[in-house]
Amino acid sequence: MTDVSALRERLVDVLRDDGGLTRDDLIQAFASVPRELFLADGFHLGDAGFLRPGDEGFLAGAYRNDALVTKFDNGRPVSSSSQPSLMALMIEELSIAPGMRVLEIGAGTGYNAALMAHIGADVTSVDVQPDVAARAARALREAGVTGARVRVGDGYLGDPSGAPYDRIIVTVGITGVSPHWLAQLVPGGLMLAPVAHAGNNPVLRVWAEAARRRAEPGWPATDDVWADGVCGAGFMAAAGPLAARYPWAHPDPIRVPDGVTASVQIPPRWPQALDGLRYHDLWFAVGAWDRRATGGPFDGGSGCVLVDETRAGGAAIRADGSILAAGEHAAEYADDAGILLDRWLDAGRPGIERWRAPLVLAGDPAAPIYVPREWSLIR
Ligand SMILES: C[S@@+](CC[C@H](N)C(=O)[O-])C[C@H]1O[C@@H](n2cnc3c(N)ncnc32)[C@H](O)[C@@H]1O
Repeated sequence: MTDVSALRERLVDVLRDDGGLTRDDLIQAFASVPRELFLADGFHLGDAGFLRPGDEGFLAGAYRNDALVTKFDNGRPVSSSSQPSLMALMIEELSIAPGMRVLEIGAGTGYNAALMAHIGADVTSVDVQPDVAARAARALREAGVTGARVRVGDGYLGDPSGAPYDRIIVTVGITGVSPHWLAQLVPGGLMLAPVAHAGNNPVLRVWAEAARRRAEPGWPATDDVWADGVCGAGFMAAAGPLAARYPWAHPDPIRVPDGVTASVQIPPRWPQALDGLRYHDLWFAVGAWDRRATGGPFDGGSGCVLVDETRAGGAAIRADGSILAAGEHAAEYADDAGILLDRWLDAGRPGIERWRAPLVLAGDPAAPIYVPREWSLIR
């Protein structure tokens, strides 16, 4: 076995062990598609910095179960290859079968498109950045993938030339869903999209009753579009109308300035911190119940905060249930955070998959998007 096949096998083992990868054909895809070809201009990997083909650690890094940033603009990540476990989970959740027409929004490196093509899908992938799209198209060619094509354009418009699609997969963080996608989806088709919620981009399953009922695809009635929670995730933000703000959106994630110290500290609720998945369940619920919820940096990662109007104070809810609050209204924010924690516990610690929201049109009136209105627990 060559080094690279050993690395691919190891990646497959990791993806199987974490439970997201079960389909044999998708296992074959991860074991065969050369991720390094889709990273030919290099990627950023933590302390190792930017790695290019031939650099020490390049191949090992390419087969880590990590999101790998491939392009920066003024220090801001603007393109990447998503985390393989998230790709596996989304592809499996979409039940993609051979012959299905799939629209991907956010081609990035083209690796995800290649995986879907490997299991027999006919993939159209759109990216707004011409250089990124060209690089993805080149990688697909070099990898010998024939079932996927890349289009340059704003994904807001989808790609009518390949419609209708059986499946739509959005791999860039959006604040709402384009009506064009619903119009380009077959009745009964499935769509997954990472829609902004409390400073994160959890993956949602989006469906439209009207589009299902109609023989002719068309824009569905506003009260007929719904989203169900699937899993927690983080994605880089989309460009254009897909990232429009709307009045009841959560605040943008905060960067707590140096020197902010907690004046209120409430001790942990649990002896052991929640694992990442359960913490995202709690975070989602806090966001569903409270519009002040967003993401903030703490404990070496990002976590759930209720932010006050100064954006320098509020309350942070940690994975062990402890609360840290700062700012003029620290005590009040700590109380509110405690009430939200109790509410989540009393509701039986619901997971993200237990939430549903109707979607309504908002954002840029010239290019509206469907955004979640009120989240409710189902089941
Ligand atoms: C996380 S990357 C996609 C990862 C990719 N699917 C892969 O696996 O390699 C997000 C991509 O979305 C693209 N993007 C951002 N806004 C967009 C938009 N409005 N329409 C289409 N693509 C967009 C970015 O240029 C970026 O390449």
